[in-house]
Amino acid sequence: MNFELSEEHLAVKDAARDFAQNVLKREVIDRDREQRFPYDEIRQLGELGFMGMMVDPKYGGSGMDTLSYVLAMEEISKVDASTSVCMSVNNSLVCWGLEKYGSEEQKMKYLVPLAKGEKIGAFCLSEPEAGSDATSQRTTAIDKGDHYLLNGTKNWITNGSSASVYLVIAQTNVEAGHRGINAFIIERGMEGFIVGAKEDKMGIRGSDTHTLLFNDVKVPKENRIGEDGFGFKFAMKVLAGGRIGIAAQALGIAAGGLELSVAYSKERKAFGKEIYKHQAIAFKIADMATEVEAARLLVYRSAADKDAGRDYGTSSAMAKLYASKVAMEQTTEAVQIHGGYGYVKEYHVERLMRDAKITQIYEGTSEVQKIVISRAVLDV
Ligand code: CAA
Repeated sequence: MNFELSEEHLAVKDAARDFAQNVLKREVIDRDREQRFPYDEIRQLGELGFMGMMVDPKYGGSGMDTLSYVLAMEEISKVDASTSVCMSVNNSLVCWGLEKYGSEEQKMKYLVPLAKGEKIGAFCLSEPEAGSDATSQRTTAIDKGDHYLLNGTKNWITNGSSASVYLVIAQTNVEAGHRGINAFIIERGMEGFIVGAKEDKMGIRGSDTHTLLFNDVKVPKENRIGEDGFGFKFAMKVLAGGRIGIAAQALGIAAGGLELSVAYSKERKAFGKEIYKHQAIAFKIADMATEVEAARLLVYRSAADKDAGRDYGTSSAMAKLYASKVAMEQTTEAVQIHGGYGYVKEYHVERLMRDAKITQIYEGTSEVQKIVISRAVLDV
């Protein structure tokens, strides 16, 4: 077992850290307050090769491994989880799904611009009545010979208005249950496709989360991904990898809270000395660092599983479950260490605490991760 990062991994981590600390940090508070999407920052991430990190260079990607992706997600999430969720959805749901299961034509047409960061992708599974219970899809795609007719509503879609390529999960054969579900590539601008209301969220406020409406959208047959009926398995397989990305995001949010707390505890004085010299604060820092490191090991291990070709369904669920809990708990501690300053926007930790919460909800709630883990452990 090797716990050392290679020089290549360290270089990716340094590049991501440099970008996060020197570019993203500048306006992150304003973007959060104004709910402003980081268009320019995402364009720059594309230029750095961070929007299609794991995609083969022949499809416009960077050809890196999952651990590199996790390291970049961690550094960027320390500063700006709104930017990192856009990056995560594009990399691990949309690009990975297309590269692994798309046709050659689909890859050339859609994957290449997505992997280069020229276009942004969205993944559309959740519905008003199908969140955790993902098999209960109400959106329908009826086979009309040379095309499918798509009707329905999708909710809470990350990159909802910034994307131009959407992977949409829909029911094509109600009698067949989850085996009658398919995944389709939908383009922005297709007739009948409407980007609906934007959510006013507690956290990740710089990211754009929308309802999407599909009214008799004609989807060409060649835009179906994989064999007929593959859509639910496609979604589950894509989400297993997506959970590594969100686990890395949660890890980054927690580690960001720790870094800010360490710095603050050395600056701030109370009762005649820097507050880290009070054991109440030093012990909090010790607990935070230990929890963050435990989360890091689970996240890196799941990335290593994926890179080694091992099954990562359980390890990604464990990593996401634990890292998101650590993010919520340790950012709350970070606010506590900052006292009154922690409760105002200028010091960043209140945003990290608000952003942490979503990591326990999206790409499967903590309860969904426990379903996945318990089934594996119990072998049922
Ligand atoms: N890989 C391949 N196939 C899988 C699979 C996997 N990881 N997991 C399940 N399947 C297959 C099963 O084998 C089964 O197929 P068969 O019947 O042919 O054997 C089929 O899928 C149905 O599986 P289950 O019976 O286990 O399904 P279930 O109804 O019990 O649901 C669940 C399981 C884990 C709760 C699942 O519904 C789930 O993951 N729900 C959460 C969905 C989710 O994560 N949504 C997030 C939306 S995306 C998002 O948040 C992005 C964003 O904006 C950031």
